[in-house]
Amino acid sequence: MKVKVPELNDENVVVVQSTYSPQEKNLFELLLTCHELSRRKAKITAVIPYLAYARQNRSFTSGEAVSVDMVLDMLHAAGVRRLITVNPHKSDALAYFKGKAGIVDASKTLARAVMGQLDEPFVLAPDKGGLNLAKNAASVIKCEYTHIEKIRDNYGNVSIKKAHGGGFKGKDVIIFDDVISTGGTIALAARYAYAEGATSVCAAAVHLLMADEAYNRMKTVGVVKLFGANTIPFEKAEIADISSDIAEFIDHEKKEYD
Ligand code: R5P
Repeated sequence: MKVKVPELNDENVVVVQSTYSPQEKNLFELLLTCHELSRRKAKITAVIPYLAYARQNRSFTSGEAVSVDMVLDMLHAAGVRRLITVNPHKSDALAYFKGKAGIVDASKTLARAVMGQLDEPFVLAPDKGGLNLAKNAASVIKCEYTHIEKIRDNYGNVSIKKAHGGGFKGKDVIIFDDVISTGGTIALAARYAYAEGATSVCAAAVHLLMADEAYNRMKTVGVVKLFGANTIPFEKAEIADISSDIAEFIDHEKKEYD
């Protein structure tokens, strides 16, 4: 790979690169770009709408590499002094970064894309971790929300214990999550919502990674429509443009860069 950066006419540079699949290629391209810009004395803000490896923020089993820490180290070594990303799975995943890190919340813009498309909306978070996202979305859509409590057995199988305060009968349930990878989490929640009397089930996630058979897995259980943000391209979903959220965030924090 060979990267060539343009002549700079300002020392403040914002580099935008999302690091979805092929993540190593996208990441390396970003590193080369930032490294060259930093050699030219640029003050670099990297906007990485989808930050690869952010979900691997600890060793889940002994010996597993904490991948996000290595990614953050590499970005800093390449000259990134400010990093902005969108709804990482856990915000403390960025705590390790040696520069400044900022998080853009796309949940309200995503919710605006859904708004008006459902007759009896009801927002559902597929686990407790998704509660904030669901709460934000419900405040925009102006509807009720709840979350599902999952249990994991000794063999790692996940099943649903119950939904808190949820009466899904006659509702058009919209499941909100930060990311859809295999689609398994959404499929489980959708099956539950239908079993509890939902009229229809849609899904919305900030990052549509859509690995494996994710789309079909969700379609099979009756997910009617899919919404996502443009942090990762995916043509089978209705996509909300979150670039203004990022631009506003940069504007708002501008003083910090100067
Ligand atoms: C987990 O806590 C996350 O918020 C997502 O629910 C999960 O990563 C989605 O993964 P998948 O689509 O493979 O179930």
